[in-house]
Amino acid sequence: MALFRISSGAARGALATRFHQAAARWFGGSLCLAAMVGTGLVLAWMNHAQAAPVASDTAVVSNGINPHPVELRLPPDRPLSAVAQLGRRMFFDPALSASGRQSCASCHDPAHGYNPPNGQTLQPGGARMGQLGFRPPLSLAYLYRQQPFGIGPDAGEAEAPANLDTLARTAGQTARAQKSAGTASASAPLVPMGGLFWDGRAASLQRQALVPMLNPVEMANTSIEQVAAKLAASPYHAQFQQLFGEGILAHPDRLVAEAMFAIGRFEIEDASFHPFTSKYDAWLQGKARLSAAEARGLDRFNDPQKGNCAACHLSKVTPDRLPPLFTDTQYEALGVPRNPALPRNRDPHFHDLGLCGPFRTDLARQTQYCGMFVTPTLRNVDRRQVFFHNGVYRTLRQVLDFYNLRAVAPEKVYPRDANGTLALYDDLPAAYHANVDTTDAPFDRHIGDTPALTDQDIRDIIAFLHTLDDGYSRPGLIQPGFLPQSTLTTTQRPFHSASSK
Ligand code: HEC
Ligand code: HEC
Repeated sequence: MALFRISSGAARGALATRFHQAAARWFGGSLCLAAMVGTGLVLAWMNHAQAAPVASDTAVVSNGINPHPVELRLPPDRPLSAVAQLGRRMFFDPALSASGRQSCASCHDPAHGYNPPNGQTLQPGGARMGQLGFRPPLSLAYLYRQQPFGIGPDAGEAEAPANLDTLARTAGQTARAQKSAGTASASAPLVPMGGLFWDGRAASLQRQALVPMLNPVEMANTSIEQVAAKLAASPYHAQFQQLFGEGILAHPDRLVAEAMFAIGRFEIEDASFHPFTSKYDAWLQGKARLSAAEARGLDRFNDPQKGNCAACHLSKVTPDRLPPLFTDTQYEALGVPRNPALPRNRDPHFHDLGLCGPFRTDLARQTQYCGMFVTPTLRNVDRRQVFFHNGVYRTLRQVLDFYNLRAVAPEKVYPRDANGTLALYDDLPAAYHANVDTTDAPFDRHIGDTPALTDQDIRDIIAFLHTLDDGYSRPGLIQPGFLPQSTLTTTQRPFHSASSK
């Protein structure tokens, strides 16, 4: 949402400071900590305290060496706690599903950066594995700093759980006032952010984990009791008794709550969820040299006049040396084209509106949020085979063409309706078209303008995105001097609009 996004460096700095202070307050509350699978790591969330966006850094482009290497503050790589070890067993246990054939890892595969292991837009699930989910799975990696869902920096301050509807109403009014003023101001960072799922509807990893367990199109258990019975019959049931008391198996609610907590601990503690072993991490630490294309790509990614990607997919180390996660965890309506391949979209009246429904219901009346989805991390993004909340694109080239052409040549992005009229923002009812971001570059251009990115820029940005793949180096194994160039090649395919699929 452009209104909230500050483009000038100074204003963004001011906003960053506000967020910094707000975040410190936000995480001061014990309430919040309890909600976040009790992790001290959350306290370290300072993502918003990014410095001003980087301008072109010719030094980087010319020799590929990071002129300002940093010693990153990486999460500790300790042995897993007993609870997290139990969580790991459940994470990989297909016996916990109704079909007996599906575990969390079926859709979130560690070998693919906890992305799906295949190119299917929607993953199969259900009691007989004959049903399809509704959205492409998100990666489970790099959630260790994810804060709970909130609107505005003071969301976590309330004693009682915040009334999101009230907050949203206030935020909505501010948003409209700003919109007519036509300028972004640092005074109203009342933007939805945080949470889990594409629409932020799960508050914590613990609460999230129960959703797939009981979802009829995923692991398809019919009740908490059924999940509890499976846990009680599992080869690791004795560990529950050891950790949570002899009587735990007789209390289905408590048993399942502890089990989901344990899965959350696994996701927070295990280094495989946040390895920071990409070439970009090595480069940040001065231990790798970017190729000319990668360095140019980084520059275009950061440049507010070019890709402007880093405005939302944060790319800089935070002032307290936390590595960037390539998301600000905020929600945006990008106007991604409708994906006619989704079974639900056969009904022209069905719309996945993200924050305002249908899968989350608490913000249904806050129509200023209709069409907004979370900004996903771009780490390991090329391990994904479908992109955006509706999986409309299958290559990074298509994604980049979308960003580059949506404002200047929408006829290359959206199909035409039966009358030959261009179906702009065709995955959103017309009433919500005003929510679509038209102020953040590269969306701030007009029809017929020169696109922000050249073909070369796009290829370079994709080359840079490949440097976000984990597995380039292992912490501790990086030798002084430079590592060999990444062997990954840039995949290029011609652009297909949604209508051609
Ligand atoms: C059938 C496939 C499937 C299975 C099995 C599955 N998930 Fe997911 N997962 C998804 C989909 C699809 C989403 C995105 C859904 C949405 O946004 O509405 C998701 C999202 C998530 C998220 C949110 C990630 C984020 O960045 O916000 C977490 C965490 C998660 N799953 C954990 C789990 C755990 C733990 C299990 C096992 C108990 C599990 N999943 C089993 C498909 C699956
Ligand atoms: C205004 C904020 C914003 C800007 C600027 C932005 N993005 Fe995004 N990005 C998002 C949001 C929000 C989504 C998810 C949108 C959806 O699914 O509806 C997204 C999704 C993506 C995805 C798909 C990821 C996945 O897992 O499905 C890629 C790839 C991506 N962005 C790359 C880029 C690149 C490259 C740029 C610069 C050219 C860029 N983004 C600029 C907010 C932004």
